[in-house]
Amino acid sequence: MRTRPSRQLAPSLRRAGLALACAATLAGCAGERKSVVPGGDIEQGLRLVTQYQCGACHVIPGVQGAAGDSGPTLDYIGRLSYIAGGIPNSPDNMVRWLRVPHAVKPGTEMPPMGLTEQEARHMAAYLYTLR
Ligand code: HEC
Repeated sequence: MRTRPSRQLAPSLRRAGLALACAATLAGCAGERKSVVPGGDIEQGLRLVTQYQCGACHVIPGVQGAAGDSGPTLDYIGRLSYIAGGIPNSPDNMVRWLRVPHAVKPGTEMPPMGLTEQEARHMAAYLYTLR
């Protein structure tokens, strides 16, 4: 039984609209979107999130095959006030979380992925486009 139909539908419709808008401009979307994470590049972030296979544990829109369910969906991670159940969702906290989750939240099941600071910045830049 689905209890949240509108929430499920709306983001995919919005993304469909965005994809159309991107297709319409030859420059594409990434060049027009500015990262909210200092030093983070949205396109590089997408590449890294794909490469590190975060999608084995997370649903991540825009990442092929990212349909894992041992972690929460990252569908609207850019809209959340808190991540990992209580950490304020700021770019700095997100970058730190991605690098050393256990240091941010002892006992968490999210594993450290061995990211550099720069890689985490790029990934955070991409994640914040997911709203
Ligand atoms: C082995 C499974 C696993 C992998 C691989 C993994 N995660 Fe997670 N992730 C989790 C779990 C479990 C949580 C929930 C942690 C908690 O709240 O303590 C989580 C939480 C998160 C959150 C916070 C989500 C929220 O709604 O609060 C983000 C963001 C995140 N992961 C991003 C990533 C990124 C980016 C990668 C790849 C670099 C990644 N994860 C790889 C399991 C994973």
